[in-house]
Amino acid sequence: KKDITNDEDYNISDLLDLGDDFIQEKNLERANDHFEQLLTKYPNSPRALYGKALSLDKLAEKQRSNKMLEEAIATFQKVMDAKDTPDELFKQAGLKLGEKLEFRGWNSKAAATYQNLVNKFPSDITVRKKLGVSYLLMGQNEKARRVFSDILDIDKGNNFARVHLGFIVKVTDNNPQESIPLLRAIMESNSKEIQEGKFYFHLGDAYQRLNQTEKAYEVYERGVKKGLFLSKYQRSLYNCDGIKAQPWWKPEETGYQQYLKILTDNWKLIRDEGMKQIDPKTGSFLPEEENLLDKGQWMQFTLYARGKKNAKNCAKVPKVCELLDQITPAKSCVRGQIKYSLMKPGVHVWPHCGPTNCRIRAHLGLVIPEGPKIRVADETRTWKEGQFIIIDDSFEHEVWHTGASDRLILIVDFWHPDIDEKTRRTLDPI
Ligand code: LMR
Ligand code: MN
Repeated sequence: KKDITNDEDYNISDLLDLGDDFIQEKNLERANDHFEQLLTKYPNSPRALYGKALSLDKLAEKQRSNKMLEEAIATFQKVMDAKDTPDELFKQAGLKLGEKLEFRGWNSKAAATYQNLVNKFPSDITVRKKLGVSYLLMGQNEKARRVFSDILDIDKGNNFARVHLGFIVKVTDNNPQESIPLLRAIMESNSKEIQEGKFYFHLGDAYQRLNQTEKAYEVYERGVKKGLFLSKYQRSLYNCDGIKAQPWWKPEETGYQQYLKILTDNWKLIRDEGMKQIDPKTGSFLPEEENLLDKGQWMQFTLYARGKKNAKNCAKVPKVCELLDQITPAKSCVRGQIKYSLMKPGVHVWPHCGPTNCRIRAHLGLVIPEGPKIRVADETRTWKEGQFIIIDDSFEHEVWHTGASDRLILIVDFWHPDIDEKTRRTLDPI
Protein backbone atom coordinates (compact mmCIF):
# COMPACT_ATOMS: atom_id res chain seq x y z
CA LYS A 1 0.00 0.00 0.00
CA LYS A 2 3.06 2.19 -0.09
CA ASP A 3 2.07 3.67 -3.45
CA ILE A 4 -1.26 4.96 -2.22
CA THR A 5 -0.17 6.30 1.16
CA ASN A 6 1.22 9.80 1.65
CA ASP A 7 3.31 10.90 4.65
CA GLU A 8 0.36 11.99 6.78
CA ASP A 9 -1.67 8.90 5.98
CA TYR A 10 1.37 6.84 6.89
CA ASN A 11 0.94 8.00 10.49
CA ILE A 12 -2.59 6.60 10.63
CA SER A 13 -2.07 3.65 8.34
CA ASP A 14 -3.28 1.12 10.94
CA LEU A 15 -6.61 2.93 11.14
CA LEU A 16 -6.85 3.19 7.36
CA ASP A 17 -6.01 -0.49 6.94
CA LEU A 18 -8.70 -1.37 9.48
CA GLY A 19 -11.30 0.47 7.38
CA ASP A 20 -10.10 -1.34 4.27
CA ASP A 21 -10.52 -4.62 6.14
CA PHE A 22 -14.15 -3.75 6.91
CA ILE A 23 -14.74 -3.27 3.21
CA GLN A 24 -13.02 -6.57 2.44
CA GLU A 25 -15.30 -8.28 4.95
CA LYS A 26 -18.28 -6.58 3.27
CA ASN A 27 -19.01 -4.85 6.55
CA LEU A 28 -19.96 -1.78 4.57
CA GLU A 29 -21.90 0.31 7.09
CA ARG A 30 -19.13 -0.14 9.58
CA ALA A 31 -16.50 0.78 6.99
CA ASN A 32 -18.43 3.88 6.04
CA ASP A 33 -18.81 5.01 9.67
CA HIS A 34 -15.16 4.31 10.29
CA PHE A 35 -13.94 6.45 7.39
CA GLU A 36 -16.44 9.22 8.27
CA GLN A 37 -14.94 9.30 11.75
CA LEU A 38 -11.42 9.43 10.41
CA LEU A 39 -12.39 12.28 8.12
CA THR A 40 -13.68 14.41 10.99
CA LYS A 41 -10.17 14.29 12.39
CA TYR A 42 -8.22 14.16 9.10
CA PRO A 43 -10.51 15.85 6.56
CA ASN A 44 -7.91 15.83 3.76
CA SER A 45 -6.71 12.26 4.11
CA PRO A 46 -6.75 10.87 0.55
CA ARG A 47 -7.03 7.27 1.68
CA ALA A 48 -9.87 8.02 4.10
CA LEU A 49 -11.70 9.82 1.29
CA TYR A 50 -11.06 6.89 -1.00
CA GLY A 51 -12.26 4.40 1.63
CA LYS A 52 -15.41 6.42 2.16
CA ALA A 53 -16.06 6.63 -1.58
CA LEU A 54 -15.54 2.91 -1.98
CA SER A 55 -17.87 1.96 0.85
CA LEU A 56 -20.51 4.39 -0.40
CA ASP A 57 -20.23 2.93 -3.85
CA LYS A 58 -20.67 -0.62 -2.61
CA LEU A 59 -23.59 0.42 -0.42
CA ALA A 60 -25.17 2.20 -3.37
CA GLU A 61 -24.90 -0.97 -5.41
CA LYS A 62 -26.42 -3.08 -2.65
CA GLN A 63 -29.28 -0.67 -2.01
CA ARG A 64 -29.65 0.32 -5.68
CA SER A 65 -29.54 3.95 -4.60
CA ASN A 66 -28.66 6.67 -7.09
CA LYS A 67 -28.36 9.20 -4.29
CA MET A 68 -25.61 7.16 -2.63
CA LEU A 69 -23.95 6.55 -5.97
CA GLU A 70 -23.83 10.29 -6.49
CA GLU A 71 -22.29 10.73 -3.05
CA ALA A 72 -19.70 8.10 -3.95
CA ILE A 73 -19.00 9.94 -7.21
CA ALA A 74 -18.51 13.23 -5.38
CA THR A 75 -16.16 11.55 -2.93
CA PHE A 76 -14.01 9.87 -5.60
CA GLN A 77 -13.76 13.34 -7.14
CA LYS A 78 -12.52 14.69 -3.80
CA VAL A 79 -9.72 12.10 -3.80
CA MET A 80 -8.59 13.47 -7.14
CA ASP A 81 -8.91 17.07 -5.99
CA ALA A 82 -7.11 16.59 -2.65
CA LYS A 83 -3.72 18.24 -2.42
CA ASP A 84 -1.38 15.40 -1.60
CA THR A 85 -3.00 12.42 -3.26
CA PRO A 86 -0.33 9.96 -4.35
CA ASP A 87 -0.27 9.28 -8.09
CA GLU A 88 -1.29 5.65 -7.76
CA LEU A 89 -4.32 6.51 -5.62
CA PHE A 90 -5.20 9.36 -7.99
CA LYS A 91 -5.25 6.87 -10.83
CA GLN A 92 -7.32 4.29 -8.94
CA ALA A 93 -9.84 6.94 -7.91
CA GLY A 94 -10.00 8.30 -11.46
CA LEU A 95 -10.66 4.87 -12.96
CA LYS A 96 -13.37 4.19 -10.37
CA LEU A 97 -14.86 7.63 -10.91
CA GLY A 98 -15.01 7.20 -14.67
CA GLU A 99 -16.68 3.81 -14.32
CA LYS A 100 -19.28 5.17 -11.88
CA LEU A 101 -20.00 8.23 -14.05
CA GLU A 102 -20.61 5.96 -17.02
CA PHE A 103 -22.88 3.75 -14.95
CA ARG A 104 -24.81 6.86 -13.89
CA GLY A 105 -25.12 7.80 -17.57
CA TRP A 106 -22.89 10.87 -17.22
CA ASN A 107 -20.69 10.00 -20.15
CA SER A 108 -19.19 13.37 -20.92
CA LYS A 109 -18.10 13.73 -17.30
CA ALA A 110 -16.57 10.26 -17.57
CA ALA A 111 -14.65 11.28 -20.68
CA ALA A 112 -13.40 14.42 -18.92
CA THR A 113 -12.19 12.29 -16.02
CA TYR A 114 -10.31 9.90 -18.32
CA GLN A 115 -8.84 12.86 -20.22
CA ASN A 116 -7.59 14.18 -16.90
CA LEU A 117 -5.91 10.80 -16.29
CA VAL A 118 -4.39 10.71 -19.77
CA ASN A 119 -2.89 14.16 -19.21
CA LYS A 120 -1.33 13.04 -15.98
CA PHE A 121 -0.21 9.59 -17.17
CA PRO A 122 0.52 10.02 -20.88
CA SER A 123 2.29 6.70 -21.26
CA ASP A 124 -0.46 4.68 -19.53
CA ILE A 125 -2.37 2.78 -22.18
CA THR A 126 -5.12 1.57 -19.83
CA VAL A 127 -6.47 5.04 -19.26
CA ARG A 128 -6.28 5.88 -22.96
CA LYS A 129 -8.34 2.78 -23.73
CA LYS A 130 -10.99 3.93 -21.27
CA LEU A 131 -11.03 7.37 -22.85
CA GLY A 132 -11.49 5.97 -26.35
CA VAL A 133 -14.32 3.65 -25.32
CA SER A 134 -15.98 6.49 -23.47
CA TYR A 135 -16.00 8.64 -26.63
CA LEU A 136 -17.43 5.72 -28.59
CA LEU A 137 -20.22 5.34 -26.02
CA MET A 138 -21.09 8.99 -26.61
CA GLY A 139 -21.04 8.56 -30.37
CA GLN A 140 -18.05 10.89 -30.62
CA ASN A 141 -16.31 8.68 -33.13
CA GLU A 142 -13.81 11.25 -34.38
CA LYS A 143 -12.51 11.86 -30.88
CA ALA A 144 -12.39 8.12 -30.29
CA ARG A 145 -10.44 7.68 -33.53
CA ARG A 146 -7.80 10.13 -32.29
CA VAL A 147 -7.42 8.29 -29.01
CA PHE A 148 -7.02 4.85 -30.60
CA SER A 149 -4.58 6.19 -33.21
CA ASP A 150 -2.55 7.75 -30.40
CA ILE A 151 -2.39 4.36 -28.67
CA LEU A 152 -1.09 2.78 -31.87
CA ASP A 153 1.57 5.49 -32.07
CA ILE A 154 2.74 4.54 -28.59
CA ASP A 155 2.26 0.81 -28.95
CA LYS A 156 2.23 -0.28 -32.58
CA GLY A 157 0.07 -3.38 -32.92
CA ASN A 158 -1.96 -2.80 -29.76
CA ASN A 159 -4.89 -5.14 -30.38
CA PHE A 160 -7.44 -3.23 -28.35
CA ALA A 161 -6.72 -0.06 -30.31
CA ARG A 162 -6.68 -1.99 -33.60
CA VAL A 163 -10.16 -3.46 -33.23
CA HIS A 164 -11.71 -0.23 -32.02
CA LEU A 165 -10.11 1.76 -34.79
CA GLY A 166 -11.18 -0.94 -37.26
CA PHE A 167 -14.72 -0.62 -35.99
CA ILE A 168 -14.67 3.14 -36.63
CA VAL A 169 -13.16 2.71 -40.10
CA LYS A 170 -15.81 0.12 -40.95
CA VAL A 171 -18.86 1.87 -39.48
CA THR A 172 -18.10 5.59 -39.71
CA ASP A 173 -15.95 5.63 -42.84
CA ASN A 174 -17.79 2.71 -44.44
CA ASN A 175 -14.42 1.41 -45.60
CA PRO A 176 -14.41 -2.41 -45.41
CA GLN A 177 -11.07 -2.76 -47.16
CA GLU A 178 -9.14 -0.74 -44.63
CA SER A 179 -11.07 -2.02 -41.64
CA ILE A 180 -10.05 -5.64 -42.24
CA PRO A 181 -6.37 -5.54 -41.22
CA LEU A 182 -7.40 -3.72 -38.03
CA LEU A 183 -10.40 -5.88 -37.11
CA ARG A 184 -8.32 -9.00 -37.91
CA ALA A 185 -6.85 -8.61 -34.42
CA ILE A 186 -9.77 -10.69 -33.11
CA MET A 187 -8.61 -13.64 -35.21
CA GLU A 188 -4.97 -13.21 -34.25
CA SER A 189 -5.32 -12.78 -30.51
CA ASN A 190 -7.48 -14.56 -27.96
CA SER A 191 -7.31 -11.73 -25.48
CA LYS A 192 -10.69 -11.57 -23.74
CA GLU A 193 -11.09 -7.81 -23.87
CA ILE A 194 -11.33 -7.76 -27.66
CA GLN A 195 -13.62 -10.76 -28.09
CA GLU A 196 -16.83 -8.87 -28.72
CA GLY A 197 -19.68 -9.80 -31.01
CA LYS A 198 -19.70 -6.46 -32.78
CA PHE A 199 -16.12 -6.90 -33.98
CA TYR A 200 -16.88 -10.35 -35.44
CA PHE A 201 -20.07 -8.94 -36.93
CA HIS A 202 -18.27 -6.15 -38.74
CA LEU A 203 -15.19 -8.10 -39.78
CA GLY A 204 -17.40 -10.71 -41.41
CA ASP A 205 -19.52 -8.01 -43.00
CA ALA A 206 -16.42 -6.29 -44.36
CA TYR A 207 -15.44 -9.54 -46.09
CA GLN A 208 -18.96 -10.03 -47.44
CA ARG A 209 -18.95 -6.58 -48.96
CA LEU A 210 -15.73 -7.41 -50.74
CA ASN A 211 -17.30 -10.68 -51.92
CA GLN A 212 -14.87 -12.73 -49.84
CA THR A 213 -17.62 -15.01 -48.60
CA GLU A 214 -15.41 -17.86 -47.41
CA LYS A 215 -13.35 -15.53 -45.25
CA ALA A 216 -16.56 -14.04 -43.86
CA TYR A 217 -17.80 -17.44 -42.74
CA GLU A 218 -14.48 -18.31 -41.09
CA VAL A 219 -15.06 -15.25 -38.95
CA TYR A 220 -18.70 -16.06 -38.24
CA GLU A 221 -17.97 -19.72 -37.39
CA ARG A 222 -15.42 -18.54 -34.88
CA GLY A 223 -17.91 -16.08 -33.45
CA VAL A 224 -20.30 -18.99 -32.95
CA LYS A 225 -17.58 -21.08 -31.23
CA LYS A 226 -16.92 -18.16 -28.89
CA GLY A 227 -20.63 -17.96 -28.02
CA LEU A 228 -20.96 -14.49 -29.56
CA PHE A 229 -23.51 -15.49 -32.22
CA LEU A 230 -26.51 -17.81 -31.96
CA SER A 231 -25.45 -19.50 -35.20
CA LYS A 232 -23.48 -18.72 -38.35
CA TYR A 233 -26.58 -17.21 -39.95
CA GLN A 234 -28.22 -15.76 -36.85
CA ARG A 235 -25.91 -12.95 -35.78
CA SER A 236 -28.13 -10.52 -33.90
CA LEU A 237 -26.43 -9.14 -30.81
CA TYR A 238 -29.43 -8.21 -28.60
CA ASN A 239 -30.97 -11.56 -27.88
CA CYS A 240 -33.43 -13.46 -25.77
CA ASP A 241 -32.43 -16.98 -24.70
CA GLY A 242 -34.14 -20.23 -25.41
CA ILE A 243 -36.66 -19.12 -28.01
CA LYS A 244 -37.47 -20.83 -31.30
CA ALA A 245 -34.99 -19.93 -33.99
CA GLN A 246 -35.84 -20.52 -37.65
CA PRO A 247 -35.39 -18.23 -40.66
CA TRP A 248 -38.83 -18.75 -42.18
CA TRP A 249 -42.13 -18.91 -40.25
CA LYS A 250 -45.51 -20.25 -41.29
CA PRO A 251 -48.45 -18.07 -40.18
CA GLU A 252 -49.86 -20.91 -38.06
CA GLU A 253 -46.55 -21.20 -36.19
CA THR A 254 -46.85 -17.66 -34.92
CA GLY A 255 -50.20 -17.82 -33.14
CA TYR A 256 -50.89 -14.42 -34.69
CA GLN A 257 -53.30 -15.62 -37.42
CA GLN A 258 -56.16 -13.42 -36.17
CA TYR A 259 -53.95 -10.33 -36.49
CA LEU A 260 -52.53 -11.32 -39.85
CA LYS A 261 -56.09 -11.81 -41.10
CA ILE A 262 -57.08 -8.25 -40.17
CA LEU A 263 -54.30 -7.03 -42.42
CA THR A 264 -54.73 -9.44 -45.34
CA ASP A 265 -58.50 -8.79 -45.34
CA ASN A 266 -57.68 -5.12 -45.86
CA TRP A 267 -54.60 -5.39 -48.04
CA LYS A 268 -55.98 -3.26 -50.86
CA LEU A 269 -56.80 -0.43 -48.48
CA ILE A 270 -53.29 -0.69 -47.05
CA ARG A 271 -51.86 -0.64 -50.56
CA ASP A 272 -53.93 2.32 -51.71
CA GLU A 273 -53.28 4.57 -48.73
CA GLY A 274 -49.58 3.74 -48.98
CA MET A 275 -49.37 4.39 -52.70
CA LYS A 276 -50.70 7.91 -52.25
CA GLN A 277 -47.59 8.65 -50.20
CA ILE A 278 -45.11 7.58 -52.88
CA ASP A 279 -45.16 10.97 -54.58
CA PRO A 280 -41.93 12.65 -53.41
CA LYS A 281 -43.92 15.85 -52.77
CA THR A 282 -45.45 14.17 -49.70
CA GLY A 283 -41.99 13.72 -48.18
CA SER A 284 -43.25 10.46 -46.66
CA PHE A 285 -40.80 7.87 -47.97
CA LEU A 286 -37.23 8.38 -46.80
CA PRO A 287 -34.08 6.61 -48.00
CA GLU A 288 -32.97 3.63 -45.91
CA GLU A 289 -30.30 4.90 -43.55
CA GLU A 290 -28.56 1.85 -42.17
CA ASN A 291 -26.02 1.60 -44.92
CA LEU A 292 -27.31 -1.75 -46.12
CA LEU A 293 -27.74 -0.84 -49.75
CA ASP A 294 -25.25 -2.01 -52.37
CA LYS A 295 -27.07 -0.38 -55.27
CA GLY A 296 -30.42 1.04 -56.31
CA GLN A 297 -33.07 2.98 -54.42
CA TRP A 298 -34.82 1.72 -51.29
CA MET A 299 -37.14 3.87 -49.21
CA GLN A 300 -39.26 3.50 -46.12
CA PHE A 301 -42.30 5.19 -44.63
CA THR A 302 -42.44 4.48 -40.91
CA LEU A 303 -45.66 4.25 -38.89
CA TYR A 304 -44.37 2.72 -35.67
CA ALA A 305 -40.84 2.54 -34.28
CA ARG A 306 -39.65 1.17 -30.93
CA GLY A 307 -43.29 0.58 -29.92
CA LYS A 308 -44.24 4.23 -30.51
CA LYS A 309 -46.72 5.47 -33.06
CA ASN A 310 -45.46 8.16 -35.45
CA ALA A 311 -48.51 10.40 -35.18
CA LYS A 312 -47.56 12.65 -38.07
CA ASN A 313 -47.11 9.75 -40.48
CA CYS A 314 -50.16 7.93 -39.19
CA ALA A 315 -52.26 10.99 -39.96
CA LYS A 316 -51.33 10.47 -43.61
CA VAL A 317 -52.63 6.88 -43.67
CA PRO A 318 -55.40 7.06 -41.05
CA LYS A 319 -57.28 3.92 -42.03
CA VAL A 320 -54.14 1.82 -41.93
CA CYS A 321 -53.22 3.10 -38.49
CA GLU A 322 -56.75 2.37 -37.30
CA LEU A 323 -56.13 -1.24 -38.32
CA LEU A 324 -52.75 -1.24 -36.65
CA ASP A 325 -54.37 -0.09 -33.42
CA GLN A 326 -55.85 -3.58 -33.22
CA ILE A 327 -52.55 -5.40 -33.76
CA THR A 328 -51.36 -5.40 -30.15
CA PRO A 329 -48.33 -7.73 -30.42
CA ALA A 330 -46.95 -5.57 -33.24
CA LYS A 331 -47.69 -2.04 -32.09
CA SER A 332 -46.35 -2.85 -28.61
CA CYS A 333 -43.12 -4.36 -29.97
CA VAL A 334 -40.47 -1.97 -28.72
CA ARG A 335 -37.83 -3.98 -30.57
CA GLY A 336 -39.28 -3.41 -34.01
CA GLN A 337 -41.08 -1.19 -36.49
CA ILE A 338 -44.11 -1.05 -38.71
CA LYS A 339 -43.31 0.56 -42.05
CA TYR A 340 -43.89 0.57 -45.77
CA SER A 341 -40.88 -0.46 -47.80
CA LEU A 342 -40.52 0.70 -51.38
CA MET A 343 -37.92 -0.75 -53.70
CA LYS A 344 -37.04 0.52 -57.14
CA PRO A 345 -35.78 -1.91 -59.76
CA GLY A 346 -32.03 -2.40 -59.63
CA VAL A 347 -31.75 -2.79 -55.88
CA HIS A 348 -29.30 -5.09 -54.19
CA VAL A 349 -29.34 -5.10 -50.38
CA TRP A 350 -26.17 -6.54 -48.87
CA PRO A 351 -26.54 -9.68 -46.79
CA HIS A 352 -27.23 -8.53 -43.23
CA CYS A 353 -28.79 -9.49 -39.90
CA GLY A 354 -31.25 -7.49 -37.82
CA PRO A 355 -30.11 -6.40 -34.35
CA THR A 356 -32.38 -8.65 -32.26
CA ASN A 357 -34.00 -12.10 -32.19
CA CYS A 358 -36.86 -10.80 -30.05
CA ARG A 359 -39.13 -10.09 -33.02
CA ILE A 360 -40.41 -11.86 -36.10
CA ARG A 361 -40.91 -9.82 -39.22
CA ALA A 362 -44.02 -10.15 -41.38
CA HIS A 363 -44.01 -8.72 -44.91
CA LEU A 364 -47.38 -8.05 -46.55
CA GLY A 365 -47.06 -7.94 -50.35
CA LEU A 366 -48.79 -4.84 -51.77
CA VAL A 367 -47.36 -4.13 -55.22
CA ILE A 368 -45.30 -7.04 -56.43
CA PRO A 369 -43.97 -7.08 -59.98
CA GLU A 370 -41.77 -9.83 -61.44
CA GLY A 371 -38.19 -9.55 -60.22
CA PRO A 372 -37.77 -8.95 -56.48
CA LYS A 373 -36.60 -11.79 -54.25
CA ILE A 374 -35.34 -12.30 -50.74
CA ARG A 375 -32.92 -14.88 -49.37
CA VAL A 376 -33.11 -15.68 -45.66
CA ALA A 377 -30.41 -18.11 -44.53
CA ASP A 378 -30.36 -20.80 -47.25
CA GLU A 379 -33.75 -20.25 -48.78
CA THR A 380 -34.85 -17.68 -51.36
CA ARG A 381 -38.49 -16.74 -51.90
CA THR A 382 -40.56 -13.89 -53.25
CA TRP A 383 -43.65 -11.90 -52.25
CA LYS A 384 -47.26 -12.24 -53.43
CA GLU A 385 -49.81 -9.46 -53.39
CA GLY A 386 -52.22 -9.67 -50.49
CA GLN A 387 -50.16 -12.35 -48.72
CA PHE A 388 -47.68 -12.45 -45.88
CA ILE A 389 -44.24 -13.95 -45.80
CA ILE A 390 -42.83 -14.16 -42.29
CA ILE A 391 -39.14 -14.20 -41.51
CA ASP A 392 -36.89 -13.96 -38.51
CA ASP A 393 -34.71 -11.08 -39.64
CA SER A 394 -32.00 -11.85 -37.09
CA PHE A 395 -31.01 -14.49 -39.65
CA GLU A 396 -28.86 -13.31 -42.54
CA HIS A 397 -30.99 -12.02 -45.40
CA GLU A 398 -30.30 -10.42 -48.75
CA VAL A 399 -32.64 -8.76 -51.25
CA TRP A 400 -32.55 -8.21 -55.02
CA HIS A 401 -34.95 -6.41 -57.27
CA THR A 402 -34.18 -7.15 -60.90
CA GLY A 403 -37.66 -6.32 -62.21
CA ALA A 404 -38.96 -3.35 -64.17
CA SER A 405 -41.21 -1.50 -61.71
CA ASP A 406 -41.52 -0.56 -58.03
CA ARG A 407 -42.12 -3.13 -55.31
CA LEU A 408 -44.16 -2.08 -52.24
CA ILE A 409 -44.64 -4.09 -49.04
CA LEU A 410 -45.76 -3.39 -45.47
CA ILE A 411 -43.28 -4.61 -42.87
CA VAL A 412 -44.83 -5.54 -39.52
CA ASP A 413 -42.61 -6.61 -36.63
CA PHE A 414 -44.29 -8.75 -33.98
CA TRP A 415 -42.95 -9.81 -30.64
CA HIS A 416 -41.40 -13.24 -30.98
CA PRO A 417 -44.24 -15.48 -29.78
CA ASP A 418 -42.02 -17.36 -27.31
CA ILE A 419 -41.33 -14.21 -25.26
CA ASP A 420 -43.88 -13.85 -22.46
CA GLU A 421 -45.67 -10.63 -21.53
CA LYS A 422 -43.58 -10.05 -18.43
CA THR A 423 -40.30 -10.31 -20.30
CA ARG A 424 -41.61 -8.07 -23.08
CA ARG A 425 -42.08 -5.32 -20.53
CA THR A 426 -38.47 -5.55 -19.35
CA LEU A 427 -36.78 -5.34 -22.77
CA ASP A 428 -35.39 -1.98 -23.79
CA PRO A 429 -36.26 -0.50 -27.19
CA ILE A 430 -34.23 -1.06 -30.34
C1 LMR B 1 -35.00 -6.11 -45.00
O1 LMR B 1 -35.61 -6.07 -43.93
O2 LMR B 1 -33.79 -6.07 -45.06
C2 LMR B 1 -35.75 -6.19 -46.29
O3 LMR B 1 -36.25 -7.47 -46.38
C3 LMR B 1 -36.80 -5.21 -46.34
C4 LMR B 1 -37.46 -5.16 -47.66
O4 LMR B 1 -38.02 -4.13 -47.96
O5 LMR B 1 -37.42 -6.17 -48.38
MN1 MN C 1 -33.25 -6.37 -43.02
